[in-house]
Amino acid sequence: MLAVAILAAGKGTRMNSSLPKVLHKLSGKTLLERVLQSCFNLNPNKIFIIVGHKADEVKNSLNTSILNKNVHFILQEPQNGTGHAIQILSKELKDFKGKLLVLNGDVPLIKSTTLKELIEVHDTNDADASLITTKKQNPYGYGRVFIKRNNLIQKIVEEKDCSADERLNQLINSGIYCFNGDSLFKNINYIKSNNIQKEIYLTDAISMVNKSISFEIESDEELQGVNNRVHLAKCEKIIQKQIIEKHMLNGVTFINPESCTISEESKIGMDVLIEPNTHIRGKSIIANNCIIGPNSFIQDSNLNIDCKVINSTIFNSKIMSNVSIGPYSHIRPGTQISSNCKVGNFVEIKNSFIDESVNISHLSYIGDTKIGKNTNVGAGTITANFDGLQKHKTNIGKDCSIGANTVLVAPVNLDNSVTTGAGSIINKDVGKNTLAISRSKQVNINNWKKK
Ligand code: UD1
Ligand code: MG
Repeated sequence: MLAVAILAAGKGTRMNSSLPKVLHKLSGKTLLERVLQSCFNLNPNKIFIIVGHKADEVKNSLNTSILNKNVHFILQEPQNGTGHAIQILSKELKDFKGKLLVLNGDVPLIKSTTLKELIEVHDTNDADASLITTKKQNPYGYGRVFIKRNNLIQKIVEEKDCSADERLNQLINSGIYCFNGDSLFKNINYIKSNNIQKEIYLTDAISMVNKSISFEIESDEELQGVNNRVHLAKCEKIIQKQIIEKHMLNGVTFINPESCTISEESKIGMDVLIEPNTHIRGKSIIANNCIIGPNSFIQDSNLNIDCKVINSTIFNSKIMSNVSIGPYSHIRPGTQISSNCKVGNFVEIKNSFIDESVNISHLSYIGDTKIGKNTNVGAGTITANFDGLQKHKTNIGKDCSIGANTVLVAPVNLDNSVTTGAGSIINKDVGKNTLAISRSKQVNINNWKKK
């Protein structure tokens, strides 16, 4: 029987935030979600999340797919320390005989493979408590782990309680433990708070059970704890490096990887070139041979092969093959741009379907619009889709030529092969093969001089 306890009740004072610490995000996921994910692969019988500070906010942050995985909340009120959190849990788990994996909710990069190893080491050593440790160049802030012999732990001393000599010890407590429930719960209620912070430390349980062992691992990246926003940024950097390296090994070129951020869920095809300052977020898919950036932001969008995007933003949209976007285009949700289109500078498109080989090259707003194949939209064309109360649709057929500075006042329909004169305001439907012009005739006044 394996149970998991995630400590997530603390305020996170050092974050200086109104948001509970475990709800801060790393690459789109909260610290808590990340810790939970690392446990799911272990198939635990039960997962307990200890909540306290802004408990409802923490609970509500988790979606039902996570909650359905046997996740239970335990309320710790007030929050008197990590040991106190487990004291509260022990009331719930009185007759529990299995193993209890305890994870700090603010150590978000831990891998499930490492957790599996911890459990194996715990079993083979027949330990009462096993703890993941590592040696840190700069151990400042972490609890220091003291070994008596072999890998047996004598005690853990928190930074604030360390003597000057003890502070030199570089072996740190990760905050990730595997306990025999039996041994832990026999001792947990005897932990005292005689320390600088006057808190009940879970770390004291380590010296109370019979056999506590240190499972020292080499890389300390996955043990980076988050107590402040400097740590948060460190973790983000570690995650981004891992994501971008994975893409590079799969055949994606990054000109300046440090300047880019890519979400874990995004997929990028072979021979894609990512230029500096490019950010791909949410669940985006970039197919082979695209060139993205510099300075582009793509969120939850699909781009088919051979697209080029420069200095542009794309949200919740679908772009088919060989489309060129930008510089300075803004593609808003609900847009589909078909193959071989060109969307140029200062063009905004929202909730529209653009068929193949359409050009919208300069200074346009296209909203709630359908445009047929091979149509050319002249510079400065605007769809006036909002009458102050409601949004209306514009339909433009194929092979049309929309003159520069046309205003299409929706609802309005233009059939195939329509031409509009430059500067026209079109508010009536236009039939096939028709030229529509609505502008006052030019008057030239001869021999006119400025007074
Ligand atoms: C803790 C460890 C330290 C270790 C470090 C690793 C203790 C006493 N110290 O220190 O040895 O090196 O983690 O990152 O355990 N929490 C509760 N209830 C509370 C207090 C805290 O649930 O009453 C939760 C917090 O929300 C957090 C976790 O426990 O997720 C750790 O608390 P934190 O205050 O960050 O402890 P550290 O000072 O980092
Ligand atoms: Mg911490």
